[in-house]
Amino acid sequence: MIQGPLVDAFGRVHTNLRLSVTDRCNIRCFYCMPTEQVQFRPRHEILSFEEITRFVRVAARLGIRKIRITGGEPLVRSQLPALVRLLRQIPGIDELALTTNGVLLAEQAAALRQAGLDRLNISLDTLDPEKFQRLTRRDLLDRVLKGIFAARTAGFQAIKLNAIAVRNMTEDEIVPLARFARQHDLELRFIEYMPLDGDRTWHSDQVLQGAEILRRLEQAFGPLEPIERTDASQPATDYRFASGQGRIGLITPVSQPFCEQCNRLRLTAEGQIRNCLFSTDEWDARALLRANAPDEDLARLIRACVAGKHAARGGDSSEFVRPDRAMFQIGG
Ligand code: 5AD
Ligand code: SF4
Repeated sequence: MIQGPLVDAFGRVHTNLRLSVTDRCNIRCFYCMPTEQVQFRPRHEILSFEEITRFVRVAARLGIRKIRITGGEPLVRSQLPALVRLLRQIPGIDELALTTNGVLLAEQAAALRQAGLDRLNISLDTLDPEKFQRLTRRDLLDRVLKGIFAARTAGFQAIKLNAIAVRNMTEDEIVPLARFARQHDLELRFIEYMPLDGDRTWHSDQVLQGAEILRRLEQAFGPLEPIERTDASQPATDYRFASGQGRIGLITPVSQPFCEQCNRLRLTAEGQIRNCLFSTDEWDARALLRANAPDEDLARLIRACVAGKHAARGGDSSEFVRPDRAMFQIGG
Protein backbone atom coordinates (compact mmCIF):
# COMPACT_ATOMS: atom_id res chain seq x y z
CA MET A 1 0.00 0.00 0.00
CA ILE A 2 1.23 3.48 -0.79
CA GLN A 3 0.81 5.51 2.34
CA GLY A 4 2.81 8.07 4.23
CA PRO A 5 4.13 9.67 6.21
CA LEU A 6 7.81 9.23 5.44
CA VAL A 7 9.24 8.98 8.94
CA ASP A 8 12.90 8.12 9.41
CA ALA A 9 14.57 6.26 12.28
CA PHE A 10 14.89 9.52 14.24
CA GLY A 11 11.26 10.57 13.92
CA ARG A 12 11.78 13.18 11.20
CA VAL A 13 8.78 13.42 8.90
CA HIS A 14 9.78 14.07 5.28
CA THR A 15 7.48 16.44 3.42
CA ASN A 16 9.99 18.26 1.29
CA LEU A 17 11.53 17.20 -2.03
CA ARG A 18 14.28 18.97 -3.93
CA LEU A 19 14.13 18.11 -7.56
CA SER A 20 17.17 18.66 -9.74
CA VAL A 21 16.16 18.97 -13.39
CA THR A 22 19.62 19.32 -14.94
CA ASP A 23 23.28 19.30 -13.90
CA ARG A 24 24.08 21.92 -16.55
CA CYS A 25 24.61 25.58 -15.82
CA ASN A 26 25.26 28.80 -17.71
CA ILE A 27 27.74 30.13 -15.14
CA ARG A 28 30.58 28.51 -13.17
CA CYS A 29 30.44 29.46 -9.48
CA PHE A 30 33.73 28.35 -7.97
CA TYR A 31 31.96 26.94 -4.87
CA CYS A 32 29.88 24.58 -6.97
CA MET A 33 31.58 23.68 -10.25
CA PRO A 34 35.10 22.66 -11.22
CA THR A 35 37.23 25.25 -13.02
CA GLU A 36 37.77 23.16 -16.11
CA GLN A 37 36.35 20.23 -18.01
CA VAL A 38 32.99 19.99 -16.37
CA GLN A 39 31.53 16.56 -17.04
CA PHE A 40 27.81 16.81 -17.61
CA ARG A 41 25.56 13.80 -17.86
CA PRO A 42 24.48 12.78 -21.35
CA ARG A 43 20.90 13.69 -22.14
CA HIS A 44 19.55 10.11 -22.14
CA GLU A 45 20.57 9.71 -18.49
CA ILE A 46 18.49 12.69 -17.41
CA LEU A 47 14.91 12.00 -16.37
CA SER A 48 12.17 13.12 -18.74
CA PHE A 49 9.33 15.33 -17.49
CA GLU A 50 7.06 12.26 -17.59
CA GLU A 51 9.47 10.32 -15.39
CA ILE A 52 9.86 13.19 -12.94
CA THR A 53 6.10 13.68 -12.76
CA ARG A 54 5.48 10.01 -12.10
CA PHE A 55 8.04 10.03 -9.29
CA VAL A 56 6.50 13.11 -7.70
CA ARG A 57 3.01 11.64 -7.92
CA VAL A 58 4.17 8.65 -5.84
CA ALA A 59 6.15 10.88 -3.46
CA ALA A 60 3.06 13.07 -2.92
CA ARG A 61 1.04 9.99 -1.95
CA LEU A 62 3.74 9.32 0.67
CA GLY A 63 3.35 12.79 2.15
CA ILE A 64 5.65 15.04 0.12
CA ARG A 65 3.98 18.48 0.12
CA LYS A 66 6.61 20.91 -1.01
CA ILE A 67 8.79 20.79 -4.08
CA ARG A 68 11.80 22.91 -4.90
CA ILE A 69 13.15 22.73 -8.43
CA THR A 70 16.95 23.03 -8.60
CA GLY A 71 19.84 22.28 -10.96
CA GLY A 72 22.61 22.88 -11.99
CA GLU A 73 20.66 25.85 -13.21
CA PRO A 74 17.04 24.77 -13.69
CA LEU A 75 16.23 27.46 -16.27
CA VAL A 76 18.64 25.94 -18.79
CA ARG A 77 16.38 22.88 -18.98
CA SER A 78 14.22 23.46 -22.01
CA GLN A 79 10.46 23.92 -21.58
CA LEU A 80 10.72 24.16 -17.81
CA PRO A 81 7.33 25.90 -17.47
CA ALA A 82 5.75 22.76 -18.93
CA LEU A 83 7.18 20.74 -16.03
CA VAL A 84 5.89 23.31 -13.55
CA ARG A 85 2.44 22.94 -15.07
CA LEU A 86 2.60 19.13 -14.75
CA LEU A 87 3.77 19.28 -11.12
CA ARG A 88 1.12 21.87 -10.28
CA GLN A 89 -1.59 19.34 -11.11
CA ILE A 90 -0.35 16.67 -8.72
CA PRO A 91 -2.72 16.23 -5.76
CA GLY A 92 -0.97 16.87 -2.44
CA ILE A 93 1.69 19.29 -3.67
CA ASP A 94 0.95 22.57 -1.85
CA GLU A 95 4.01 24.54 -2.75
CA LEU A 96 6.23 24.73 -5.80
CA ALA A 97 9.41 26.76 -5.51
CA LEU A 98 12.52 27.17 -7.62
CA THR A 99 16.13 28.20 -6.98
CA THR A 100 17.84 29.95 -9.87
CA ASN A 101 20.96 31.97 -10.62
CA GLY A 102 18.68 34.50 -12.31
CA VAL A 103 20.58 34.74 -15.61
CA LEU A 104 17.59 33.56 -17.69
CA LEU A 105 14.88 34.84 -15.42
CA ALA A 106 14.03 38.01 -17.32
CA GLU A 107 13.00 35.78 -20.26
CA GLN A 108 11.20 33.15 -18.22
CA ALA A 109 9.69 34.72 -15.10
CA ALA A 110 6.27 35.42 -16.61
CA ALA A 111 5.90 31.93 -18.11
CA LEU A 112 6.94 30.29 -14.84
CA ARG A 113 4.45 32.36 -12.91
CA GLN A 114 1.68 31.51 -15.34
CA ALA A 115 2.55 27.83 -15.12
CA GLY A 116 1.89 27.99 -11.38
CA LEU A 117 5.27 28.43 -9.73
CA ASP A 118 4.71 29.86 -6.23
CA ARG A 119 8.07 31.04 -5.05
CA LEU A 120 11.55 31.98 -6.21
CA ASN A 121 14.98 32.03 -4.60
CA ILE A 122 17.59 33.85 -6.61
CA SER A 123 21.33 33.55 -5.98
CA LEU A 124 23.12 36.89 -5.71
CA ASP A 125 26.54 36.87 -4.09
CA THR A 126 27.69 40.39 -4.94
CA LEU A 127 26.61 43.64 -6.57
CA ASP A 128 30.07 44.29 -7.96
CA PRO A 129 30.48 43.15 -11.60
CA GLU A 130 34.17 42.32 -11.17
CA LYS A 131 33.56 40.31 -8.06
CA PHE A 132 30.70 38.56 -9.80
CA GLN A 133 33.08 37.60 -12.60
CA ARG A 134 35.57 36.24 -10.07
CA LEU A 135 32.97 34.21 -8.19
CA THR A 136 31.06 32.86 -11.19
CA ARG A 137 33.68 33.07 -13.97
CA ARG A 138 31.10 34.85 -16.13
CA ASP A 139 30.26 38.49 -16.72
CA LEU A 140 26.51 38.30 -16.25
CA LEU A 141 25.60 40.36 -13.19
CA ASP A 142 23.43 42.71 -15.27
CA ARG A 143 21.30 39.84 -16.48
CA VAL A 144 20.81 38.59 -12.93
CA LEU A 145 19.71 42.02 -11.70
CA LYS A 146 17.29 42.31 -14.61
CA GLY A 147 16.02 38.86 -13.74
CA ILE A 148 15.31 39.85 -10.15
CA PHE A 149 13.22 42.84 -11.19
CA ALA A 150 11.46 40.86 -13.92
CA ALA A 151 10.43 38.28 -11.32
CA ARG A 152 8.86 41.04 -9.27
CA THR A 153 7.03 42.39 -12.32
CA ALA A 154 5.79 38.89 -13.14
CA GLY A 155 4.04 38.83 -9.78
CA PHE A 156 6.38 36.79 -7.58
CA GLN A 157 6.15 37.85 -3.95
CA ALA A 158 8.52 37.29 -1.03
CA ILE A 159 11.45 36.68 -3.38
CA LYS A 160 14.50 35.47 -1.50
CA LEU A 161 18.09 36.22 -2.39
CA ASN A 162 20.79 33.67 -1.51
CA ALA A 163 24.34 34.88 -0.96
CA ILE A 164 27.25 32.57 -0.32
CA ALA A 165 29.55 33.45 2.61
CA VAL A 166 33.24 32.72 1.97
CA ARG A 167 36.03 34.06 4.17
CA ASN A 168 38.53 36.45 2.57
CA MET A 169 36.20 36.76 -0.37
CA THR A 170 32.68 37.92 0.40
CA GLU A 171 33.02 40.00 3.60
CA ASP A 172 32.71 43.25 1.67
CA GLU A 173 29.55 42.09 -0.07
CA ILE A 174 27.54 41.67 3.14
CA VAL A 175 26.57 45.27 3.83
CA PRO A 176 25.91 46.34 0.21
CA LEU A 177 23.77 43.24 -0.37
CA ALA A 178 21.80 43.95 2.80
CA ARG A 179 21.28 47.56 1.74
CA PHE A 180 20.11 46.45 -1.72
CA ALA A 181 17.73 43.88 -0.26
CA ARG A 182 16.21 46.41 2.15
CA GLN A 183 15.83 48.99 -0.53
CA HIS A 184 14.00 46.57 -2.83
CA ASP A 185 12.10 44.73 -0.13
CA LEU A 186 13.76 41.39 -0.80
CA GLU A 187 14.67 38.87 1.88
CA LEU A 188 18.40 38.17 1.92
CA ARG A 189 19.91 34.96 3.23
CA PHE A 190 23.57 34.23 3.73
CA ILE A 191 24.71 30.61 3.32
CA GLU A 192 27.92 29.29 4.85
CA TYR A 193 30.25 27.78 2.29
CA MET A 194 29.93 23.97 2.37
CA PRO A 195 32.46 21.36 1.20
CA LEU A 196 30.64 20.73 -2.09
CA ASP A 197 32.83 22.71 -4.50
CA GLY A 198 33.81 21.06 -7.77
CA ASP A 199 37.55 21.50 -7.34
CA ARG A 200 37.56 20.00 -3.84
CA THR A 201 39.63 22.79 -2.38
CA TRP A 202 37.16 23.68 0.41
CA HIS A 203 38.81 24.26 3.76
CA SER A 204 37.07 25.00 7.06
CA ASP A 205 39.06 28.25 7.30
CA GLN A 206 37.08 29.50 4.31
CA VAL A 207 33.75 29.33 6.10
CA LEU A 208 32.57 32.82 6.91
CA GLN A 209 30.38 32.01 9.87
CA GLY A 210 26.89 33.27 10.55
CA ALA A 211 27.97 34.90 13.81
CA GLU A 212 30.47 37.09 12.01
CA ILE A 213 27.97 38.06 9.32
CA LEU A 214 25.58 39.14 12.05
CA ARG A 215 28.27 41.21 13.74
CA ARG A 216 29.11 43.01 10.50
CA LEU A 217 25.46 43.73 9.78
CA GLU A 218 24.86 45.08 13.28
CA GLN A 219 27.88 47.34 12.97
CA ALA A 220 26.40 48.89 9.84
CA PHE A 221 22.68 48.90 10.57
CA GLY A 222 22.25 48.58 14.34
CA PRO A 223 20.67 45.69 16.24
CA LEU A 224 19.07 42.71 14.51
CA GLU A 225 16.25 40.94 16.32
CA PRO A 226 15.72 37.21 15.92
CA ILE A 227 12.32 36.27 14.51
CA GLU A 228 10.59 33.22 15.92
CA ARG A 229 10.59 30.29 13.48
CA THR A 230 7.16 29.52 12.11
CA ASP A 231 8.38 26.39 10.34
CA ALA A 232 10.79 24.32 12.44
CA SER A 233 12.26 22.65 9.36
CA GLN A 234 13.33 25.95 7.78
CA PRO A 235 17.12 25.94 7.76
CA ALA A 236 17.46 29.73 8.03
CA THR A 237 17.54 31.64 11.32
CA ASP A 238 15.76 34.90 10.52
CA TYR A 239 16.35 38.38 11.88
CA ARG A 240 14.69 41.74 11.42
CA PHE A 241 16.37 45.11 11.59
CA ALA A 242 15.38 46.99 14.73
CA SER A 243 15.72 50.12 12.62
CA GLY A 244 12.93 49.40 10.15
CA GLN A 245 12.19 47.32 7.10
CA GLY A 246 14.12 44.28 6.00
CA ARG A 247 14.76 40.69 6.91
CA ILE A 248 17.98 38.72 6.98
CA GLY A 249 18.38 34.95 7.18
CA LEU A 250 21.46 33.01 8.16
CA ILE A 251 21.88 29.46 6.89
CA THR A 252 24.63 27.87 8.95
CA PRO A 253 25.07 24.24 7.84
CA VAL A 254 28.70 24.25 8.96
CA SER A 255 28.75 26.20 12.23
CA GLN A 256 25.27 25.09 13.39
CA PRO A 257 23.96 22.17 11.32
CA PHE A 258 20.18 21.82 11.29
CA CYS A 259 20.08 18.06 10.71
CA GLU A 260 17.71 17.49 13.65
CA GLN A 261 14.87 19.21 11.84
CA CYS A 262 15.73 18.09 8.33
CA ASN A 263 12.65 16.98 6.39
CA ARG A 264 14.18 16.84 2.91
CA LEU A 265 14.75 14.32 0.21
CA ARG A 266 16.48 14.97 -3.07
CA LEU A 267 16.09 13.55 -6.55
CA THR A 268 19.10 14.11 -8.79
CA ALA A 269 18.67 14.99 -12.46
CA GLU A 270 19.44 11.42 -13.44
CA GLY A 271 16.97 9.93 -11.02
CA GLN A 272 18.89 8.97 -7.90
CA ILE A 273 17.17 9.58 -4.56
CA ARG A 274 19.36 11.04 -1.80
CA ASN A 275 18.42 11.57 1.83
CA CYS A 276 21.12 14.18 2.51
CA LEU A 277 23.37 16.66 0.69
CA PHE A 278 26.28 14.81 2.23
CA SER A 279 24.99 11.27 1.84
CA THR A 280 27.24 8.74 0.18
CA ASP A 281 24.37 6.38 -0.72
CA GLU A 282 21.76 6.79 -3.45
CA TRP A 283 18.62 4.91 -4.34
CA ASP A 284 18.08 4.32 -8.06
CA ALA A 285 14.61 5.55 -9.00
CA ARG A 286 15.46 5.79 -12.69
CA ALA A 287 15.99 2.04 -12.98
CA LEU A 288 12.47 1.44 -11.66
CA LEU A 289 10.94 4.21 -13.77
CA ARG A 290 12.54 2.87 -16.93
CA ALA A 291 11.61 -0.74 -16.14
CA ASN A 292 8.01 0.36 -15.78
CA ALA A 293 7.93 -0.98 -12.23
CA PRO A 294 4.67 -0.52 -10.33
CA ASP A 295 4.10 2.51 -8.09
CA GLU A 296 4.41 0.24 -5.05
CA ASP A 297 8.05 -0.49 -5.94
CA LEU A 298 8.84 3.20 -6.27
CA ALA A 299 7.16 3.87 -2.94
CA ARG A 300 9.22 1.11 -1.33
CA LEU A 301 12.41 2.60 -2.72
CA ILE A 302 11.56 6.07 -1.38
CA ARG A 303 10.80 4.55 2.02
CA ALA A 304 14.10 2.66 2.00
CA CYS A 305 15.95 5.88 1.27
CA VAL A 306 14.23 7.62 4.19
CA ALA A 307 14.89 4.65 6.48
CA GLY A 308 18.58 4.82 5.60
CA LYS A 309 18.96 8.45 6.67
CA HIS A 310 21.65 9.14 9.26
CA ALA A 311 21.05 11.31 12.33
CA ALA A 312 23.54 13.94 11.19
CA ARG A 313 25.99 14.34 8.41
CA GLY A 314 26.80 18.00 8.33
CA GLY A 315 30.21 19.49 7.67
CA ASP A 316 30.96 19.29 11.38
CA SER A 317 29.61 15.92 12.39
CA SER A 318 31.83 12.98 13.22
CA GLU A 319 30.19 11.04 10.39
CA PHE A 320 31.17 13.55 7.76
CA VAL A 321 32.61 12.17 4.55
CA ARG A 322 32.77 14.39 1.51
CA PRO A 323 30.25 13.09 -1.04
CA ASP A 324 31.42 12.05 -4.52
CA ARG A 325 29.21 14.66 -6.10
CA ALA A 326 29.75 18.40 -6.16
CA MET A 327 26.87 20.85 -5.64
CA PHE A 328 25.88 21.09 -9.33
CA GLN A 329 25.50 17.31 -9.42
CA ILE A 330 23.19 17.22 -6.40
CA GLY A 331 21.08 20.32 -6.69
CA GLY A 332 21.57 22.54 -3.64
N1 5AD B 1 28.20 25.88 -0.20
C1 5AD B 1 27.07 26.57 0.11
N2 5AD B 1 26.12 26.90 -0.78
C2 5AD B 1 26.32 26.52 -2.05
N3 5AD B 1 25.59 26.70 -3.15
C3 5AD B 1 26.23 26.13 -4.19
N4 5AD B 1 27.39 25.57 -3.79
C4 5AD B 1 27.47 25.80 -2.46
C5 5AD B 1 28.43 25.47 -1.47
N5 5AD B 1 29.56 24.80 -1.77
C6 5AD B 1 24.33 27.43 -3.16
C7 5AD B 1 24.38 28.63 -4.06
C8 5AD B 1 23.00 28.76 -4.58
C9 5AD B 1 22.35 27.44 -4.30
C10 5AD B 1 21.88 26.78 -5.53
O1 5AD B 1 23.33 26.62 -3.68
O2 5AD B 1 24.72 29.78 -3.36
O3 5AD B 1 22.28 29.78 -3.96
FE1 SF4 C 1 25.44 27.25 -11.56
FE2 SF4 C 1 24.12 27.40 -9.22
FE3 SF4 C 1 26.36 26.01 -9.38
FE4 SF4 C 1 26.46 28.66 -9.59
S1 SF4 C 1 25.79 27.49 -7.77
S2 SF4 C 1 27.53 27.18 -10.92
S3 SF4 C 1 24.59 29.09 -10.61
S4 SF4 C 1 24.50 25.54 -10.43
